[in-house]
Amino acid sequence: MLASQLGRTSLVRGMQMQAARAGVQGSLAEVALKATQARGFHLLRRKYDWVEPEAEELIAKAYERHKRYQEVGESFPPALSCENLEALGKVYHYEPKNLRDKIAYNTVQVLEKFMFLFFREKYDHHAVCLETVAAVPGIVASAHRHLRSLRTMKRDHGWIASLQEEAENERLHLLIWMQHTKPTFIERAFVMTAQAAFVTFYTGMYALSPVTAHRTVGYLEEAAHKAYNDYLEAIDKGDIPNVPALVIAKNYYHLPEDATLRDVVLHVRADECMHRDFNHHLSDLIQSGGIDDHPTEMIDEVNEMKTNKATSDTKQTASA
Ligand SMILES: [Fe+2]
Ligand SMILES: [Fe+2]
Repeated sequence: MLASQLGRTSLVRGMQMQAARAGVQGSLAEVALKATQARGFHLLRRKYDWVEPEAEELIAKAYERHKRYQEVGESFPPALSCENLEALGKVYHYEPKNLRDKIAYNTVQVLEKFMFLFFREKYDHHAVCLETVAAVPGIVASAHRHLRSLRTMKRDHGWIASLQEEAENERLHLLIWMQHTKPTFIERAFVMTAQAAFVTFYTGMYALSPVTAHRTVGYLEEAAHKAYNDYLEAIDKGDIPNVPALVIAKNYYHLPEDATLRDVVLHVRADECMHRDFNHHLSDLIQSGGIDDHPTEMIDEVNEMKTNKATSDTKQTASA
């Protein structure tokens, strides 16, 4: 209580000083409002009063950007239509070009065969265990990039956050599938063993060759894409019932109330396509000497998309 009173007192005193600097007179409320307006933002409405006002302005700008996306009915990144999601079934394969690519490809081939032997046609159980492995590389790679940035005392240029986002997305896939199926005791033991082995293996691989490590994830995601194609096929054939989607998936993907399991698989498969392309791109980027380049040009692409949309809207308005 005392602390909050002291906080309010210092806030009022600060506002009065700002008001005096800005030459404002009147009631306390007027003084406060005008003084804060004089500085270009509203202290009275500050939501993040524990950070510096400059930092709060940056936060406000970030929110403002999201608000603009909401106003034009777009999400960030741009949302995919149902047609887009269905079209993502097409299989893309990055042809191995050198020894490192071949090592990556063969590593995934062995892992895939092993997974198939273990799970066979149990697509939902396969998905759960696949995601426990798929969520590892992003967090390991981001830790490597974080440590590299500390070691070299240089900026990371956006890799850490992008890789952490990938790991977070994979973890959400796991939590979504956990709502639809319950792993057996043997599967849980398999996951624990696989995690210990894969974390060790991938940590060593990333330290020795980040090019091979990202290429391996690219191939792993190609396998995940194939696994979700099989999952969809099983739903379409009626082998797996197309039950209503559960709350966690509907919230995460902003799905409508009547969304089904098939819709969820379509969205998860789209994520896997993005991981596949992103990791092949990262591997190429490092090989071409871009280890310190920003990993994505998304901002430019979105800006370009918005410019194109604005131009076509203007043309439509002019012709109407
Ligand atoms: Fe996934
Ligand atoms: Fe993935």
